[in-house]
Amino acid sequence: MKPLFVVLEGPDASGKSTQLRLLSEALAARGVPHVATREPGGTPLGERLRDLVLSSETGMAPLTELLLIVAARHEHVEKVIRPALAEGKWVLSSRYTLSSLAYQGWGRGLDLSLIRQLNALATGGLEPDLLFLLDLPPAVAYARTRERDRFEGEGLEFFTRVRVGYLELVRSAPRAHVIDGTLPPERVLGEILAHIPLPGI
Ligand code: TYD
Repeated sequence: MKPLFVVLEGPDASGKSTQLRLLSEALAARGVPHVATREPGGTPLGERLRDLVLSSETGMAPLTELLLIVAARHEHVEKVIRPALAEGKWVLSSRYTLSSLAYQGWGRGLDLSLIRQLNALATGGLEPDLLFLLDLPPAVAYARTRERDRFEGEGLEFFTRVRVGYLELVRSAPRAHVIDGTLPPERVLGEILAHIPLPGI
């Protein structure tokens, strides 16, 4: 079977890291070779760019932020995602191109078509085979994440714009599923697995 590229999206503290771990365990239990990774980050350079983007002292312009995140994405695609898929490994990524559209586009107001162009440049058009949006009401996302880092220091209005963006984006994204992120982790995992064609299920 062709290895799948699976992306988890959602606001901060929507449970993406937990689901990434649980999914990785589910694949490992079935002997499916895979890589679990994240954005921004996923490569040594990408992790350095992530630190820059997330550090509260930097205070960068929105376009600078986008360009750094997109640079990290290109490294990620070239050095991790494409090679893994070429070796027959599945790739599970916490965040990908939709994050830039939701956060830098809907959240910060940058032009969506510009973001789409930069995403296409960074990824060479590589799209996920499956995408799961862990959806949370903005007030829940906001309450769960206050003061964790720079993005998470954003106000409720920002979380609301990001959520509206995400929901709008997944309506037109192929192979995307919205999952209720307020459910307990095991239930969320069950909903995700129901859409994944896994050997032995
Ligand atoms: P992440 O590590 O997923 O944080 P969390 O686990 O709390 O959800 O993401 C770090 C931050 O980077 C997050 O606030 C969203 C932001 N981000 C963007 O703004 N644009 C992007 O394209 C990506 C990938 C992340």
